[in-house]
Amino acid sequence: MEAVILAAGKSKRIKSKLSKVLHYICGKPVIFYVVEALKSYKTHIVVNNNIAENIRKEFSDVEVHIQEKLNGTASALKSAIPFINDSSFIAANGDTPLIRKEDIDMAKEIFEKKHPDCLVLTARLDNPHGYGRIIRKENGIEIIEEKDADENIKQVKEVNTGIYVLKTDFAKSALMHIMNNNANGEYYLTDIAKLADRIETVEVDAENILGINTRKQLTVVRKKIQERIIDKFDDVTFIDPDSTYINYDVKIGSDTIIFPNVSLRGLTSIGKQCIIDTGSVIENSAIGENVHIKPYSVIENSVVGNSAQIGPFAHLRPLSEIKDEVRIGNFVEVKKSVVGRGSKASHLTYIGDAQLGEDVNVGCGTITCNYDGYRKNRTIIGDRVFIGSDVQLVAPVEIEHDALIAAGTTVTKNVDAYSLTLSRVPQVNKKNWVKKYRKDMERKMKK
Ligand code: UD1
Ligand code: MG
Repeated sequence: MEAVILAAGKSKRIKSKLSKVLHYICGKPVIFYVVEALKSYKTHIVVNNNIAENIRKEFSDVEVHIQEKLNGTASALKSAIPFINDSSFIAANGDTPLIRKEDIDMAKEIFEKKHPDCLVLTARLDNPHGYGRIIRKENGIEIIEEKDADENIKQVKEVNTGIYVLKTDFAKSALMHIMNNNANGEYYLTDIAKLADRIETVEVDAENILGINTRKQLTVVRKKIQERIIDKFDDVTFIDPDSTYINYDVKIGSDTIIFPNVSLRGLTSIGKQCIIDTGSVIENSAIGENVHIKPYSVIENSVVGNSAQIGPFAHLRPLSEIKDEVRIGNFVEVKKSVVGRGSKASHLTYIGDAQLGEDVNVGCGTITCNYDGYRKNRTIIGDRVFIGSDVQLVAPVEIEHDALIAAGTTVTKNVDAYSLTLSRVPQVNKKNWVKKYRKDMERKMKK
């Protein structure tokens, strides 16, 4: 069976430059979730000219059809129906991303058993405001939109979900007869119900059919999709799922604990037995096993090895590769650098465009001076190098293995293995200098 998703509407109520079906929920456009639910069907999407290119890029294996005149859901379907080859098909609104594959498959099964002209998925909502109401009549049903409904009809709680299974021949001829004599002056696909000789309805869970027309509805639906994503991780502990943001594509290993206000974005994967502490934001990154990301750390497009510790307040900028058992401490920033196994940069450091070997100690306040105003230059540090506190490494520079850089040194030349490098002004201690100074000053002030 084939499926048609209607996504060409003007999206006026969401008050955005962007079509509502392209607003993002957990890293995927709204329409993605509808396409997913219909994955086992050959899918057509009806779009307007503004979003056609976007939709083609996002979904390579769907057929895209353009609705030239944006005057209702019936004319949207008209743009796709010449391309449907099967004798029946599913039509679904593109703004209903909570719809479940199971409900669609069940509707299809009932359709195939009973062979009506039209089957409508319905739901019962406590607050049906805005939805088309299902009006049951002796010989069929009629769907009345909110704007065309009188007070009695508005009381009806059974609504149209915007998902239908249709006989193709019936739909082709019915679409010719649908008029636009309603409050909106649009051609409503919902009018197809009253044109059917044989109609069936299937009621599904109200929770799964919420449509997105406004920002408020986008927020409500986002929350539910987020809940579904989190529920799938049944071997991960979420201390506060309500405050956790997790993208659709994120992977998390078992026995990992996610603290409140964590944001896992893009194509991020977290290994087993990790702790991702409060307020951390991890995007497009791969975190190994048994890693502790301490509070308020930001990690972007980077890789962190097993048993590493990052943060609190650390920033791994793109293309950082932190190997196993590394410690990156508070207020440390790493950019486009490799930090070798077991190395430590525990406090207040900038490591940019650098390559650190294994078991390197980077003292507090160390800076790789990688930018000369024109180019980014590299710093290379060998295994077991010890860098004291407050060191500047003026790149390009290489420090060979087992060297020791004394605190306060500005390194401008390469350093050989096992060397000590220091560039401090020699210390001078003047005995009792302060006593004399005070005496002099006090005399001067009295004058
Ligand atoms: C529609 C139904 C309503 C149902 C509700 C369920 C109609 C007339 N009404 O109302 O009975 O209860 O969905 O969520 O169908 N679209 C086009 N071309 C157009 C207009 C719309 O492709 O010219 C697309 C939209 O992009 C959207 C879908 O059709 O994805 C539904 O349109 P929308 O304006 O959201 O209809 P609702 O008012 O929600
Ligand atoms: Mg809608």
